[in-house]
Amino acid sequence: MSQPPAKAPRTAPQTFHVKSFGCQMNVYDGERMAEMLSARGLTPAAEGLDADLVVLNTCHIRERAVDKVYSDIGRLRREDGTRPMIAVAGCVAQAEGAEISRRASSVDIVVGPQAYHRLPGLIDDALAGRDAVDTDMPVHSKFDALPGRARRASPSAFLTVQEGCDKFCTYCVVPYTRGAEVSRPWAAILDEARALVDAGAREITLLGQNVNAWTGEDEAGRPQGFDGLIRALDRLPDLARIRYTTSHPNDMTQGLIDAHAEVASLMPFLHLPVQSGSDRVLKAMNRSHSRESYLRIVERVRAARPDIALSGDFIVGFPGETEAEFEETLALVRATRYAQAYSFKYSARPGTPAADMPGQIAPEVMDERLQRLQAAINADQHAFNEATVGKRMQILLERRGRHPGQLIGKSPWLQSVHIETPDARIGDMVEVDIVSAGPNSLAGVVAAARAA
Ligand code: SAH
Ligand code: SF4
Ligand code: F3S
Repeated sequence: MSQPPAKAPRTAPQTFHVKSFGCQMNVYDGERMAEMLSARGLTPAAEGLDADLVVLNTCHIRERAVDKVYSDIGRLRREDGTRPMIAVAGCVAQAEGAEISRRASSVDIVVGPQAYHRLPGLIDDALAGRDAVDTDMPVHSKFDALPGRARRASPSAFLTVQEGCDKFCTYCVVPYTRGAEVSRPWAAILDEARALVDAGAREITLLGQNVNAWTGEDEAGRPQGFDGLIRALDRLPDLARIRYTTSHPNDMTQGLIDAHAEVASLMPFLHLPVQSGSDRVLKAMNRSHSRESYLRIVERVRAARPDIALSGDFIVGFPGETEAEFEETLALVRATRYAQAYSFKYSARPGTPAADMPGQIAPEVMDERLQRLQAAINADQHAFNEATVGKRMQILLERRGRHPGQLIGKSPWLQSVHIETPDARIGDMVEVDIVSAGPNSLAGVVAAARAA
């Protein structure tokens, strides 16, 4: 028997909880929403059920990501029959809009990724019983309407510099949920970076759906590409590390490749998704690069920065993918020797061209291919980690580990490193000797601590 619907809240929320799903850009958006709500006097609650307002910042990339959101909504019900106010933000909000409230009647607010600066007004609308759905992609950027960054930032902070995608890969929802490619202005990015550094960030990861497609003009009005932006950030005192994600092979300019050789604070790590090793599949995906052109970029990047750690994204079971085509993907993985990589089973997304393509692959076949691909990637990842044993490197300490006195930091190559160190603090950059390696992390001992 189904329960009666939980009672909707009637008073203005005092506390909030933001939960983000999906990519790092969503994590960034979630932080900005939390900062905005805090600036309006709401206080954060650790758990959704303890909060007056829950923001589910959702991801639409694969079917399972969407299912997670609806099961989370169903769980937001207290024993006394009440529930928090529920706002669905992010890419599901953009893709499904008002349909969400029809599928889950307890949703009070639906707000898309380009409209979340309007959340406070939507809360008022919901309390007044008005329609509270906003999936606009306004001309004026949300960034201009958001409060400044919080006074405290984690040692490793995210900064969105570019949003949206014009590439229209045939399987992907992002061009529809995030809109067209837009670059944030140079000065806004540098200001936000300075604010983050002042708030304690030592490392900034520049974010964008196609981050290396960023373009703009510097303070003198000169046109600049993404590498110019990196060089400007490198000049910020106290910013020790720069990273970026996600980059697209077609936007991998020689300037950016050169920056990997020349800019000391640019970390030796590159996430460069390829999706498939088969030219026929790449074409059907509308990736607009070939297997060869991808491998040539990898070669040029390695020539510029021989120790670079490579990462990628793969989709197995794209419609029509044959066993031989899948083996071309495996061969590309073996040839590239990734330090890490993400692989996904193809998920047919409503409204995308690939969802209607013939030759949809059976789930068992996808499972089997995913296992083989992940085994190959894991072997390379383990070998990459093993190769760092005995080396000394700078580790940025980011959080506490499970054991007392244990801290976890990141190597320049984005490996997690566990360190037993009673003396160092989170935010310190420490010199560490790597003593052992596992498939997913390293262990090290401090050689010399340097104050933050
Ligand atoms: N803009 C980035 C990442 C976008 S989404 C890029 O193009 O590289 C992150 C990853 O999710 C993609 O790289 C792809 O591997 C995966 N992905 C996207 N749509 C998918 C789908 N329909 N099914 C399975 N995986 C998908
Ligand atoms: Fe999606 Fe392709 Fe754009 Fe990446 S480049 S966000 S995979 S459409
Ligand atoms: Fe997901 Fe949207 Fe990011 S669909 S991966 S949250 S851009």
